[in-house]
Amino acid sequence: MNILVIHGPNLNFLGQREPAVYGSLTLKQLDARIKEHAAAKKTKVRVFQSNCEGRIIDLIAANMAWADWLIINPAAYTHYSYAIRDAIKASGLPAVEVHLSDTAAREPFRRLSVTKTACLKQIKGLGHNSYLKAVDFALKNDKK
Ligand code: DQA
Repeated sequence: MNILVIHGPNLNFLGQREPAVYGSLTLKQLDARIKEHAAAKKTKVRVFQSNCEGRIIDLIAANMAWADWLIINPAAYTHYSYAIRDAIKASGLPAVEVHLSDTAAREPFRRLSVTKTACLKQIKGLGHNSYLKAVDFALKNDKK
């Protein structure tokens, strides 16, 4: 199985960005954990990070033929990007939305996710384990 993983804006700052909220792993370390976890389950991953809405949409388009599943942390775009929500839907990929933090327990503006309506599941609040659980969810629910 092939999984496309996309990290949205400011996740390039992981490790130094509000570690009490987002944990101490760098993006590089997070990606290594995801790849290791997936490889142990004979699953291939392609991982990208972008700070730009249009680039995230282009990454979905460029990789959707290869991917069986999409795991996406749209970061702040979660709360207002109808364009990313539509791109997830347009790809036809089964998708899991992930968040490191528990967005429901933070500022009110983080409670709304416009992207989750294009996803089969939202996993949040588990730090880097949110991504690993998303890989497990994809493996368990793959219809192919
Ligand atoms: C986040 C939560 C978002 O509200 C925030 O804008 C992020 C990261 C998370 O992983 O917890 O950048 O998606």
